[in-house]
Amino acid sequence: MKVLVTGGLGFIGSHTVVELQNKGFEVVIIDNLSNSSIEVLDGITAITGVKPHFEKLDLKEKVDVVQFFEKYNDIVGVIHFAASKAVGESVKEPLMYYENNIGTLVYMLQEVSKLDKQNFIFSSSCTVYGQADELPITENAPIKPAESPYGNTKQIGEEIIRDTCKVNDNLSCIALRYFNPIGAHPSAEIGELPIGVPQNLVPYITQTGIGMREQLSVFGGDYETPDGTCIRDYIHVVDLAKAHVIALERLLEEKNLSNYEVFNLGTGKGSSVLEAIESFDRVSGKSLKYQIVGRREGDITAAYADTTKANDVLGWKTELTLDDAMASAWKWEQKIRNT
Ligand code: WQD
Repeated sequence: MKVLVTGGLGFIGSHTVVELQNKGFEVVIIDNLSNSSIEVLDGITAITGVKPHFEKLDLKEKVDVVQFFEKYNDIVGVIHFAASKAVGESVKEPLMYYENNIGTLVYMLQEVSKLDKQNFIFSSSCTVYGQADELPITENAPIKPAESPYGNTKQIGEEIIRDTCKVNDNLSCIALRYFNPIGAHPSAEIGELPIGVPQNLVPYITQTGIGMREQLSVFGGDYETPDGTCIRDYIHVVDLAKAHVIALERLLEEKNLSNYEVFNLGTGKGSSVLEAIESFDRVSGKSLKYQIVGRREGDITAAYADTTKANDVLGWKTELTLDDAMASAWKWEQKIRNT
């Protein structure tokens, strides 16, 4: 069975392509290479031995989207990752984010809703919750006003999908709200490739560990948490990728799911920034250089998932630990720096 993965050469997309191929799906990737590189295709092939179909397309070109679905009219599911995802950049370039993240989603949904039966999985984020009132966070937690245009595009995206599913019985959709994806494939053939100075914690840690960065700045040591640093739910990207395959399989089974469902994807365990540093030190044998500095604008104190719904309805739960993820991130960093 053929599955379309948009943004399939990106961080989470590429790991999902591997897990789809591992389960015997035939994969077609669309990517515009704006935030990924074509070498990722070789990495995927090196892991699975199967080279996915690849179409270099920009989903902002509606004509190209229409022609794609005319050419590939036997697709049984779509996993839609293609989007811009840098929180800080979205504040500076809101219209680029609304065009790229919302406009392309509308074009995709216009095409898939024309098909007899289609299954659509949307890459969403726990950022829609903002600072939740209660922890762990369930899917019923209130959606808070977005802290950034990026976060707003995820909220709006979910609403567009929900409204589309209401009037298209032939469409079955799932939105997956990721907590903090980290790590890399254990083979070190694929992993995270941040462009420029990493905004996210784990790539900054590994680049500091390898000597590319002087030291890690820990943004804030005075939060209302046990050690004063922020808490997040760090989920191994391979566990996250497997959740997408299981979600697609549930949609294909057409069993007791409404045609629009939302799931939180996390480990259910919160870890502080200092605990993430301790994890790196454990798995690398190094002692990471860091300094606690002022808080970062827009950061929330703590977020970790209530995973009950994903465990019970999807039949999925994480199998890998923070140390597994950190070790894979460190192995990947050493591989790409050829050390
Ligand atoms: C984690 C913690 C920082 C860097 C964002 C997006 C979210 C998703 C994941 C796309 C925070 C601290 C970080 C550093 C630090 N992105 N930190 N020093 O902000 O939880 O989530 O990325 O889907 O939507 O909001 O992740 O990795 O940036 O930060 O102390 O150099 O690490 O303050 O507490 P975040 P992050």
